[in-house]
Amino acid sequence: MSSLDGKIAVVFGAGSIGPGWSNGRAAAVAYARAGCTVAVTDVDEASLAETRALVEAEGAACDSFIGDVSDSASVRDIMAAVHARRGRIDILHNNVGLSAMGGPTAIDEETWDRVMGANVKGVFLTCRHAIPFMEADGGGVITNVGSVSAMRYLGLPQIAYAASKGAIHTMTRAIAAEFGPKKIRANVIAAGIVDTPLLAVGAARTFQGTFGAADPAEARRMRERTIPLRHFGDAWDVANTAVFLASDEARYITGAEIVVDGGLTLQVQHPARD
Ligand SMILES: NC(=O)c1ccc[n+]([C@@H]2O[C@H](COP(=O)([O-])OP(=O)(O)OC[C@H]3O[C@@H](n4cnc5c(N)ncnc54)[C@H](O)[C@@H]3O)[C@@H](O)[C@H]2O)c1
Repeated sequence: MSSLDGKIAVVFGAGSIGPGWSNGRAAAVAYARAGCTVAVTDVDEASLAETRALVEAEGAACDSFIGDVSDSASVRDIMAAVHARRGRIDILHNNVGLSAMGGPTAIDEETWDRVMGANVKGVFLTCRHAIPFMEADGGGVITNVGSVSAMRYLGLPQIAYAASKGAIHTMTRAIAAEFGPKKIRANVIAAGIVDTPLLAVGAARTFQGTFGAADPAEARRMRERTIPLRHFGDAWDVANTAVFLASDEARYITGAEIVVDGGLTLQVQHPARD
């Protein structure tokens, strides 16, 4: 029996950009395995349906909602629907995160606005519409998926993404401080390089750009060798951290930045000797 038995979790960005285990999909299934009823939401209907089927295959009840996290009315309606149907919102999990290559002189303003809208405004809106329910019902847990990009430059310019993750890390601390007295905990997972379908989409280009390697497989090996544990994480590393953060075992942890990166941010980058 887990302390999450019977809890109601809402996962934003529960689909996946490609086939396989995304961070959002794994989080939804991990909450289900821990005993939660899970509400999943995403803009991508087909991908969301896949996640819902996987949650239900765990024997958990699941509600699914199509919606854009940067649309206030949509987020408000989703929260209201979950609360009306399930009676509580115990866990809010913010996984939506768009990335875009380019520094301040390269990306256009439209790209900046799109990334900020989904990543920053999205977290603002889900918190805005979930917290009143959590407050009224005696507490809750908010877990935001951040990134080591909020802490370090990773070798290629992604100014909007890095800035958005920085904002998410800061918002998490502010929310934790303001709503601690209402028994709402908020934490951010600073994910390192996670081997998800999202990574597969841009990895070859990104690692080749970072290391100047012609061969994508060699570029990937070079990136892995910058990590003390010498391999990428996977979606379960992030999902299992989220389950822990939501559990009673983490009841005194709030406002924390939990780094899940195999040690990537521990050291100045240097060629590996092994
Ligand atoms: N994979 C990595 O290496 C890595 C590293 C650090 C952090 N992260 C973070 O992990 C999270 C995403 O991981 P993932 O594997 O689930 O990625 P993913 O792209 O597969 O899933 C994100 C989901 O969000 C949905 N989405 C996008 N815009 C949306 C919007 N406006 N409203 C609602 N849904 C929207 C997408 O349809 C997709 O299903 C992001 O926050 C990302 O920044 C990933």
